[in-house]
Amino acid sequence: MSIGIDDGASLVFKRIPVEDLMDLIDRTSVSMGDGTGMDEIRKGIEEKRIGPEGADMIIDICMTRKKASSKFPGLRSPFFTSEGLRWATPQFAADHCADRLERDLVMDLTCGQGGQVLSLARTCDRVIAFDIDPLNCLLTRMNAISLDIDNVEILNMDSLSDKALSRAEKGCAVFSDPARPPGAVERSMDELLPDPRKIEDRYRSKVEGFCFEVPPYLSLDKVPFDCEAEYVSIDGRINRLNLYLGDLKKDDRSAVILPEGDRIAGSPMGRLQEIEDRGDLRFMNEVDPSLVKAGLIELLITDLDGKIERMDMDKRRTMLLSTAPISSPFIKESFKILGRSKDLSGVKRLLEDVEARSVTLRFPVEPSEYWNVRNGLEKDLSGTIKTQLFKGEDHILTSKVEKRRHSR
Ligand SMILES: C[S@@+](CC[C@H](N)C(=O)[O-])C[C@H]1O[C@@H](n2cnc3c(N)ncnc32)[C@H](O)[C@@H]1O
Repeated sequence: MSIGIDDGASLVFKRIPVEDLMDLIDRTSVSMGDGTGMDEIRKGIEEKRIGPEGADMIIDICMTRKKASSKFPGLRSPFFTSEGLRWATPQFAADHCADRLERDLVMDLTCGQGGQVLSLARTCDRVIAFDIDPLNCLLTRMNAISLDIDNVEILNMDSLSDKALSRAEKGCAVFSDPARPPGAVERSMDELLPDPRKIEDRYRSKVEGFCFEVPPYLSLDKVPFDCEAEYVSIDGRINRLNLYLGDLKKDDRSAVILPEGDRIAGSPMGRLQEIEDRGDLRFMNEVDPSLVKAGLIELLITDLDGKIERMDMDKRRTMLLSTAPISSPFIKESFKILGRSKDLSGVKRLLEDVEARSVTLRFPVEPSEYWNVRNGLEKDLSGTIKTQLFKGEDHILTSKVEKRRHSR
């Protein structure tokens, strides 16, 4: 199937064939790299009868290339605007999701500039991609062409329209990463465009499975679906929440770490009993946030040997206290506890006792205060040990344990 696109992908560029536009962007990118002045670059673009708005977009796409290449290592010449890239699903996450969605036909109802589409085209026989914004459709098309993808149909449409719904076929799956307002921390489904509840309602009779990529800070209480909630972290930071419905649901909850791909799945259990004698719990292990958000830490603990206790330090950090460092892909780092103190003057004494050289603060401190506090603690230290200071109920002084390779 060849790549198709509805009338006039973008008013700004509509007179220029897409391959010529891609070529112009590639050449502009080279000129910007070799130091050609901006006036000359703009003149070159405007000679192609592109106005100032189009020239701004081309320059923005060129300036976004470096960042886009690191988000999409598989794309040699990515076509994203800075705004489009911001919302694009990174390649690791998109590949992971595409593996789960593998089937004959998948529809991406909110394709943006193509982050997810490029991965779906690899695992599915056919992909139909909609976006309400013609410029996004055009850029998805360019990204697909640059990878020689020929099994994607890109349509500039409202995915809630009858015309879009009429393209669904029995047995297909739907993916949607809806638009959301930037900045909010506690998000609700009402803010998402298009609203996943409306999509599910409209497409339910034709579609076997849905995957909605929603903000990871959306409270699951606000999710009205019978679905698997999959929390995904990339390089130890929470990145997204995928909701799998219908035949795509495998478990109640899951946590996945990327790029490694390790997964823990199941149902949340009650908290394990607290340990009375904590004297020999001399190690702290930071848990990957995907597992914390999924509510599955206790599943990890029951699988491990020895005495282990959970400690929630602050909103961003949950630790497991243990008698030895825990080796698991879901442990980001382990630390040996050197001592505890209620206040910073006690920490100062501890630093001298353990012969520390430096102390990294690993708890929330006002950025303007960070170096004041740290310099105060490090003043007159003459030892050799690098330490890390955490804060829960007490300050906990630790040193990092070299990460061992964990067995999978
Ligand atoms: C978060 S972005 C998707 C990014 C995409 N996953 C990617 O990797 O590039 C959300 C997209 O939804 C589109 N959108 C919003 N409402 C829509 C609707 N009713 N129909 C189709 N697309 C819509 C927006 O134009 C925007 O491009």
